[in-house]
Amino acid sequence: MDRLLEGKRVLLGVTGGIAAYKSCELARRLIRLGAEIQVVMSEAATRFVTPLTFEALTQRPVLTDLFRPEAGSRATVHVELGRWPDLVLIAPATYDFIGKLACGLADDALSALVAAAEAPVVLCPAMNHAMYAKPALAENLNRLRQWGYRIVGPERGELAEGEIGWGRLAEVETILDAVEYELLRHDALHGRRVLVTAGPTQEPVDPVRFITNRSSGRMGYALAQAALWAGAEVTLVSGPTPLQPPRGVGFVSVRTAAEMAEAVERHWPQTEILFMAAAVSDYRPSQVAEHKLKKGEGPTLRLDLEKTPDILAWAGQNKGARILVGFAVETENELANAMEKLRRKNLDLIVVNNPLEPGAGFETDTNRVTILDAEGHLDDWPLLSKLEVARRLVFRVGQLWQQRHP
Ligand code: CTP
Repeated sequence: MDRLLEGKRVLLGVTGGIAAYKSCELARRLIRLGAEIQVVMSEAATRFVTPLTFEALTQRPVLTDLFRPEAGSRATVHVELGRWPDLVLIAPATYDFIGKLACGLADDALSALVAAAEAPVVLCPAMNHAMYAKPALAENLNRLRQWGYRIVGPERGELAEGEIGWGRLAEVETILDAVEYELLRHDALHGRRVLVTAGPTQEPVDPVRFITNRSSGRMGYALAQAALWAGAEVTLVSGPTPLQPPRGVGFVSVRTAAEMAEAVERHWPQTEILFMAAAVSDYRPSQVAEHKLKKGEGPTLRLDLEKTPDILAWAGQNKGARILVGFAVETENELANAMEKLRRKNLDLIVVNNPLEPGAGFETDTNRVTILDAEGHLDDWPLLSKLEVARRLVFRVGQLWQQRHP
């Protein structure tokens, strides 16, 4: 589990709707991600969930009234607290509370804190579908959007009364995605068009069998996510994996090396940076049997294999002004082999890992990598989560881009 939000401060505002119970899960998940949470509840919210529940989850007193002693009992407490968060998250935001914000009111603890806050605000509406359909709400949301509020949801689905319609609080995952984006975004690859390949490929032997490898796709998916946070426009070309592509990437699903090569070539004209994290099968059966291979008489079976297209080598030959990042899995002479690969494929960076090291390699959440560049500089990174490796790599490529396009 990544503590992605370590050190980040989130003011979680809860207003009075039935979806308030979902904010408990939200608070718990944010804490698990490392964030510090201060919960502020409207009076109505306390009728749905008790402050005690949030206090137990966050280990902090919940604020409901700025004039109570736990708020500090100072006249300027809303201003002091307003400066505290890196992000204000209001979930659920009721019809009434949205109306209050859109009118610029600040007549209770939460609205006063939002008024005094300097941090970005993420607002997650939740209400009955009839209320959601009212023009007043649409206008209020539009106004808040124009003022820079980020509105997440609502979704369509089953509502508290058992009806189906628009108004359901966005899924916790969707809200967390928005929070992570707001807290982690930066400009290292702002506007860059990034292509990431990920996962294994499957090379068919016959209609029911294929040759593949142990790649999980996690490194490539983490890179796609990190590039999104860095402001890039991201296309992810992925072999078969059970992973969910990050929200906001253009996703291309492929199976074989040939399909992956075709997808990369198709996206090449609009690509500025390529992260070739896929574990492309180096060989494939020269012939794919039309029918399932039957067990023969003899004790062995011979398969003829041929080389697959080397996608990264092709990219190196057609590089132009692009930045190319390759990956190398090496179990001996790591650096010499990787440097040779970098030169042969005309790369800018190569990420080397040795899957025999503890915590590194295919099926883990962590990786231990060394980064080599074309000048022969070497960066040895400690054991990190794949997401952290991806984040650092994105910054590194961002610097390289800056140097070339001052
Ligand atoms: N790669 C590719 N097309 C292939 C094979 C590999 O684009 N057909 C890419 C991989 O995505 C990776 C890099 O090339 O970025 C790895 O280089 P490769 O020469 O395949 O090295 P290894 O697979 O590590 O193995 P070997 O040392 O046997 O070359």
